[in-house]
Amino acid sequence: MPVPPWPAPDAQQHWNEHYGQRDRVWSGRVNLRLSEVVETLAPGRALDLGCGEGGDAIWLASRGWSVVATDVSHVALERAAADAGELLSQIDFQHHDLEVSFPDGEFDLVSAQFLHSKIPLDRARVLKRAAAAVAPGGLLVIVDHGEAPPWSNHRHVEFPGAEEVVGSLDLDDSWVRVQVGPVEREATGPDGQPGHLIDNVMVLRRTR
Ligand SMILES: C[S@@+](CC[C@H](N)C(=O)[O-])C[C@H]1O[C@@H](n2cnc3c(N)ncnc32)[C@H](O)[C@@H]1O
Repeated sequence: MPVPPWPAPDAQQHWNEHYGQRDRVWSGRVNLRLSEVVETLAPGRALDLGCGEGGDAIWLASRGWSVVATDVSHVALERAAADAGELLSQIDFQHHDLEVSFPDGEFDLVSAQFLHSKIPLDRARVLKRAAAAVAPGGLLVIVDHGEAPPWSNHRHVEFPGAEEVVGSLDLDDSWVRVQVGPVEREATGPDGQPGHLIDNVMVLRRTR
């Protein structure tokens, strides 16, 4: 195989540098769309893909879920584990580059919240593995940006639509669409600036 003259982009290095730029990158709060879906569910086993600094994993654990939370960044995972406190006994933080390896097991809830990356990421492959990890009766919850937040440096980036993402999963008829489409909300940016956001919300149930 010919070797390219440029170094291959390294997801781990990229995301460690990203998290290393600030003491805290995200708010620490649970993602709104995930909380809306989970609020009415009985706790079970959850898998959080691209968990970042652990806001969702810690919230799930506080509601009684047993959580496997994974990210490619050691910096983010260490921060998340430090924030978890006593709830750490309910969260298994695992390091994976999801293009290379994937947590073992079946889960009642598999969540991928804003699993976007500037480093090339075969999301369709990762999200198909995510669907395969959902136990019968369980939910796959994917939330993507519909467009870049107004405070983002990446306003030019186009995000795939919810239908396109669901189509890329090649799901069979054992799956039911609970919610698929954009949802809008007002939010506050990292420096306190108000902004209008579009979330592409995909909630899919595996029936058998
Ligand atoms: C936009 S952030 C979202 C973080 C978190 N889910 C949230 O909503 O706050 C994307 C996350 O995906 C992680 N990520 C990106 N590529 C990854 C990969 N190949 N394997 C595992 N995690 C990855 C990043 O480290 C980052 O924490």
